[in-house]
Amino acid sequence: MSFQEMITSQQKTLSDRITSLAESQTIAMAKKARELAAKGVDVINLSFGEPDFQTPQYIKDAAKKAIDDGYTFYTPVAGYPELRKAIVEKLRRDNGLEYGPENIVVSTGAKQSIANAVMCLVNPGDEVIIVSPYWVSYEEVVKLAEGIPVPVRGSLENDYKITAQQLEDAITSNTKLVMYSSPCNPTGSVFTKEELAAFAAILEKHPQIHVIADEIYEYINFTGEHYSLARFESIKDRVITVNGFSKGYAMTGWRVGYIAAHKDIAEACDKMQSQITSGTCSIAQKAAQGALEGGRGSAEEMSASYLRRRDLVLGLMKDIPGIKTYVPQGAFYIFPDVSEFFGKSAGDTVIQNANDLAMYLLNDAHVSLVEGGAFGAPECIRFSFAASDAKLIEALERIKASLAKLS
Ligand SMILES: Cc1ncc(COP(=O)(O)O)c(C=O)c1O
Repeated sequence: MSFQEMITSQQKTLSDRITSLAESQTIAMAKKARELAAKGVDVINLSFGEPDFQTPQYIKDAAKKAIDDGYTFYTPVAGYPELRKAIVEKLRRDNGLEYGPENIVVSTGAKQSIANAVMCLVNPGDEVIIVSPYWVSYEEVVKLAEGIPVPVRGSLENDYKITAQQLEDAITSNTKLVMYSSPCNPTGSVFTKEELAAFAAILEKHPQIHVIADEIYEYINFTGEHYSLARFESIKDRVITVNGFSKGYAMTGWRVGYIAAHKDIAEACDKMQSQITSGTCSIAQKAAQGALEGGRGSAEEMSASYLRRRDLVLGLMKDIPGIKTYVPQGAFYIFPDVSEFFGKSAGDTVIQNANDLAMYLLNDAHVSLVEGGAFGAPECIRFSFAASDAKLIEALERIKASLAKLS
């Protein structure tokens, strides 16, 4: 069977839903990085979206205890009542939000929380405003729900944040949902209380619109203030706050995230989840409960390290001509504009876009990054600074030398 015949027959076998889904843009890069590493090349990987820290010991201990205490059975779909109570407490303490356990649904990572909410809210043809640059999965999950993604771009001059006017201009009678992350992956931008108040004032006028406010990077915020959109009482019932344990507590592999939402939406998400995965892993839930009961100390220590590394990377990037930066206020990414390199070449390699540049930097500097197209910004590249100082310094030196070869 020829390759084309194989693809055609596969397309007949597989649903339109899956064939229209974009494959992760990072797969080719990751494959190449693995090939180079297998050949013994010292590849520095700054493409991962996860902390480089181990999960704190007290959280691991809570998980071990859960096993010994016999937490090995199916759990309630929305999560153990004790964990949901601990989340309610956290939302009150950190965010000034009043919810009850009936408003909380714990899921297998914030990724599932987001997918549940989108599946429960979006009908075919509904428009979903996605604040752009955005986390890669937002657009694809909207497409899975047969919604229409409407990316609205923030400019580098405004730290990649959209303005209230931009939000208002993008709203139509078909708009059902708005999605954003703050602190943002990939830009690290943080919406202030004032900026969110301006969004809330617009949303008040459009009672059909819901919002997914993704706060997964809440604990990695260098501004000293995190504000939740759900604090605005006039729109609270239409805001689905998403959060989780992956980033702040360095628990990516445990897979625990959650939503806080109006009871009807929480019930819908519970129903959706009951048919797909049921309750999150019992042991991971107990670990998450332990994380919350232990407070924010370990998360704050990690956040202080990210801040130091951000400044280190920004300092090094300033010395690289052609990279346009800004100051990320949270998360552990920097997303500079690299379009000045487009049209340049080194030997046989011509750089036409950010993907070419990322591939060139992988081949030449042996540093793995993620091109910006996947996040809705094809003129950018995402660097993660969740890596040791030594690795960051070495990576930036190598990148500087490789970029200097382009003319
Ligand atoms: C903005 C954003 N939201 C949600 C997630 C999903 O996190 P989780 O590991 O809890 O599924 C990520 C992970 O990269 C993210 O960057």
